[in-house]
Formats: sequence, structure tokens, C-alpha cells
Amino acid sequence: MTKAAGLPAHLAHPFSPAGRIDPYPAYAWLRTHDPVHRDPMTGMWLVTGYADCAALLKDPAFSAASGQRERSRDDDLPVSMLTTDGLDHTRLRAPGALLLGPAALASVADAIAADADALLDRAVERGVPVDAVEELGAPLATAVLARLFGLSEDGRATLAALARAASVNLDPLAPPQIARVGRAAMGELTRFLDAHTDRADPHCPLGRLAADTRLTRQEMLGVLGLAVVGGWQPLAEAVGNALYWLLPRPEVRAALRAGGRDAADTAVDELLRLEAPIPFTARVTVHDAELPGGRVPAGQRVLAVLAAANRDPAVFADPDGLVWDRRPNPHLAFGGGPHFCLAARLVKQSGATLLGRIVRRFPEAVIAGPDPRWAPSLIPRRLTALPVDLGTDVPDAGSRDAGVPDAAGLQDAHA
Ligand code: HEM
Repeated sequence: MTKAAGLPAHLAHPFSPAGRIDPYPAYAWLRTHDPVHRDPMTGMWLVTGYADCAALLKDPAFSAASGQRERSRDDDLPVSMLTTDGLDHTRLRAPGALLLGPAALASVADAIAADADALLDRAVERGVPVDAVEELGAPLATAVLARLFGLSEDGRATLAALARAASVNLDPLAPPQIARVGRAAMGELTRFLDAHTDRADPHCPLGRLAADTRLTRQEMLGVLGLAVVGGWQPLAEAVGNALYWLLPRPEVRAALRAGGRDAADTAVDELLRLEAPIPFTARVTVHDAELPGGRVPAGQRVLAVLAAANRDPAVFADPDGLVWDRRPNPHLAFGGGPHFCLAARLVKQSGATLLGRIVRRFPEAVIAGPDPRWAPSLIPRRLTALPVDLGTDVPDAGSRDAGVPDAAGLQDAHA
């Protein structure tokens, strides 16, 4: 394929103000004309084809350690899985499973289901409209982390505030003044987690991780910090993003009501494919590298544009549409290769728990008010707000499936 010089003038660059709101036309053009593209505006390489992104994420020529450290202001982020490669990474990731692996998930699943019921009860009490991002997504994300960490009610409020402030560390292109605030929040978050660890229930996932001797205290705090910064806001926003697609489609909600737990699990993958909360992730080439769509020289900053790969028509039929029962669905919203999101099962299960309850308990829910707006943020992909009129509450329909889904519902085909 002939290399294209750059985006045509009529398409907004994906990092420009207009492109941040709707990056998909530019992603589609790049994927078609130059899937491994050197971007003159940023000096980075934008990799947008599915085959290219999937290959990049598995290829050691693309270093996550260098990729994350090249960010403008991450020098204060503790060492974590995402800032290491190879054996260093494996050493951190293996104990990280005590916090986020299947046994940890099984130990908190019922409590998270009860939290989902409670947050919906609270939303009903407060009345309409509900902001799905602030009143459904954020409390779910806080509940998930609180259960993993064994936090009290008071601790939840502190965690939510610190998580919100520290989440700015997700955005590799955040301006310096915002980045400074994020750095300070990261320090505070780490001190909070450090103090809490000493009091944590030894039987909660955090307690089990803290008792493990494979990590130093600093390394363990790095794992916790990454879970908060990498997990809280993406999970919170994923709920709003999902309802943005689900609520205007009564036929899909009816299918999910009829299909029960399996249907909710399947739909969550599709909703994450369509609006990946983490649209891209950074790497640096440690030597010249070949991808199916082109070559990247050594020492280059590269973005694997997961959101573009997730809409590649070579892999996904009707790539811009919601096909709720799409199977298989090898989307890259959780990345791929050695850094594949360690919490993918937890995220999918928690999301399916909440969304399943919403479609059953609130069969008439609708988006209230004018068209929701996408925020001009790069990471995470998020709405400014999503006002929802929940309509009639059918409380008994909510918690039919509080338990853990069957193992098949938790398989990660693309890990
Ligand atoms: C919808 C929510 C989430 C999405 C879309 C998401 C997505 C991702 C992606 C794309 C990566 C790979 C990054 C890379 O390769 O550079 C990743 C890694 C990771 N995520 Fe998630 N994540 C979510 C929620 C969470 C949550 C809730 C947690 C923890 C409680 C978490 C923990 C992690 C960890 C520890 C890693 C690093 C794994 C490694 O480097 O080996 N994530 N996530």
C-alpha cells in the first residue's frame, strides 16, 4: 500500500478539540490508508489497524516501560506492571493476581452485586434524572476497589476523591499544570493506601497481597496505585459509555432481559469494543520493528490506537454498530499480550452485574434531555454527563443473578 502523507484537511486530527469528541472518522481514514502512520503533529506513530495493534502489543520491540516513562510527567508514578517489561514485569504481575485474579474476584463478587443493588436504590431515592456517570458509574468503580481493598464506608469517600484527582495521570498528553495536580494526588493516594494496608483485613484481596513476600512494600503500593489510577475512572466512565449505546435501543434491552447473565456478559464486551474507555496506549521501539502494515524505526514513540483497531472492518462486521450478541469478540479494549488488563474479568463481571440490573429493574429507562456530549478528553473516552430518567422501578427483577457467572462467561478469548 502507498503511504499517505497525512490526514486530509477535512478530517479533524484525533487529538484536536473536534477530533477528541469524534476521533472515529480520522481513525477510519488512517486505518485504511496508513495503518502504521508517523503523525507530523505529535511526532508519534499512530497504529490503527487491528492486525498491527494486536502484533505490536505482543512484540517485545515495543517497550511498555519506555513507552510509559516517556510520558511528560510520570516520574512520580510508582514502579508498576505498566512501567516494566520482560522479567521485571512478570515478577510484579504474578503477585498482582492475588489482588485481581479469579480467586480475588470470586471472593468479592457477591458483595459487589449487593453494592450494585444499593447504588441503584440510592439513585431511585434521589429521584430523576440520574447522572449515569456520577451516580452509577463512579459508585460502582468505588465499590469494586473498596471490596478489593477491604475499605470502610469512610474509606470509600476518601478513595473516590483521591482516585478522581489521580486519574489525570492516565492522560499522556495532559498539560503541565493539570499534570502537576495529578502528581500531587498520586503521592496522597499512595500515602492513603500505605496507611490503610496496615489496617486491612488479612482475608481481603489486598490483605492477601500485602502478606505475600514476593513484592517490596513500594512495589505492592505500585500495584495498588495502578489499580486505582488505571481502573477507577475507566470503569466509572465505561458505565456511562455503555448506557449511551444501550438506552436508545429498547430491542437490545429486551434481548438482554430475556438472555440473563450470559447475554449481559456478551453485551459488555461489545459495549467496550465500541467505546474503549482507554482508546490508546503508549510504547517506545527498542529496535527497528516490522508490523503487518509498516515498519517503525528504533527509538520512536508509538501509540497502539485500541479504539481504532476495535472498529476495523477486517475483523468486525458492522464495525460502527452495536451488535450486542457479537461472538467471538476479540476486541482490544483491555489491550493484549503481556500487559493485558489484569482486571478484565473483574471489570466485565462488575459491568454485567450493574447493566443487567439496570435493564431488568428499569425497563423504561431513557436518556433525559438533549444529546449527551463527549468530553474533549483523550483518556478515558467519556461523556461530560449522561442524565437518565430511570422510569418505573421493578425492584424484584434486579437481583436474580447476584452470584458468580459460569466459567464460560468469564473467558478472555484474546488474553
Ligand atoms: C473499563 C475498565 C478498564 C479498561 C478499559 C482497562 C483497560 C486496560 C488496558 C488497555 C490495559 C493495558 C495497557 C497497556 O498495554 O499499556 C490495562 C492494564 C491494566 N489494568 Fe485495566 N482497564 C480497566 C479497568 C481496570 C481495573 C478496574 C483495574 C484494577 C482494579 C485494572 C487494572 C489493570 C492493571 C493492573 C493493568 C496492568 C497489567 C500489566 O501491565 O500487566 N484495570 N487495562
